Amino acid sequence: MATDRPDHEALEPVDPSDPADSTRAAHLPDVAELQTELTPPEHVPPPEGVDPSVDISIAGEQAPKGRLLELDDVTLRFGGVVALDSVSFHINTGEILGLIGPNGAGKTTCFNVVTGVYPATSGEVRFMGHAMGKRKRYQITKLGIARTFQNIRLFSQMTALENVLVGADAHHTTGVGSAIFRLPKHRREEAEGLDRAHELLKFMGLESRANELARNLPYGDQRRLEIARALATNPKLLCLDEPAAGFNPAEKSRLMELIHIIRDQGYTVLLIEHDMRLVMGVTDRIVVLEFGRKIADGSPEDIRDDPAVIAAYLGVDDAS
Ligand SMILES: Nc1ncnc2c1ncn2[C@@H]1O[C@H](COP(=O)(O)OP(=O)(O)OP(=O)(O)O)[C@@H](O)[C@H]1O
Ligand SMILES: [Mg+2]
Repeated sequence: MATDRPDHEALEPVDPSDPADSTRAAHLPDVAELQTELTPPEHVPPPEGVDPSVDISIAGEQAPKGRLLELDDVTLRFGGVVALDSVSFHINTGEILGLIGPNGAGKTTCFNVVTGVYPATSGEVRFMGHAMGKRKRYQITKLGIARTFQNIRLFSQMTALENVLVGADAHHTTGVGSAIFRLPKHRREEAEGLDRAHELLKFMGLESRANELARNLPYGDQRRLEIARALATNPKLLCLDEPAAGFNPAEKSRLMELIHIIRDQGYTVLLIEHDMRLVMGVTDRIVVLEFGRKIADGSPEDIRDDPAVIAAYLGVDDAS
């Protein structure tokens, strides 16, 4: 909540000769230590089974160059809670933009506004220059924005392949009528959707699991399946909400490498990740939120040295 916002300027320096301060110092992470911890990890291979050579690039119309998504002075209130407070930032086509911040900072809410779950209380979201207004979720998916969820939301009783096909359905142009009468255009779209779903599963290293129920897949495979389903909608912008949540550090690094490979196939990625160190290694630019406000926006190097960011992260429990 904005009213609980701590005053960063008021952080007292620690005096080691003061017994009270020495206790406090023992519990406070050191700024230099934090910055060292933020050094990106070494280059690692993607998760086992992933095949980067499979072409999964965007089919059809490509995203225009320049500003793909813009948030302009976006505020979102839930009753008395200001979840987003005049937030403005943009993402350029082809970028990986990191959205970071402590728990409750408003990161997921940002995705919810961008994907039409909640309309902004004030301000504007523009995608490819068009104001999103009160567009519905399915309309936004059709426009080219796809997302994954912080807590996996697969269709657990469907197979891996069926989950991806649901994504592919989202951009079909034929309606129920053509489906009932099995018109040629519908059959062609169906066949293309099936091909693309298999390609995505191959790319993600999940082809051998195509016919397994989603709920029976190992956790890491479920996370990758969610990304595959999002990619099946042919998105110009892929929004990933803590895709590596629940992974160990090695698995996280491998997933970040996979995200890099996805970008190299032509996608634009908006990435929420709690682990700042990982974000440093994979993103082109980073936006930092705290208590619903943007406190920094810049290159990973700028962010690492930004006093407001360091203050936001000092003493913050990483509960994810
Ligand atoms: N539907 C809602 N109704 C009321 N308050 C909400 C709702 N969704 C989010 N909030 C509040 O908005 C603020 C931002 O929440 P949000 O989930 O966006 O944070 P976050 O940065 O994604 O945090 P985390 O790292 O824990 O996932 C929090 O105070 C949260 O309690
Ligand atoms: Mg969140």
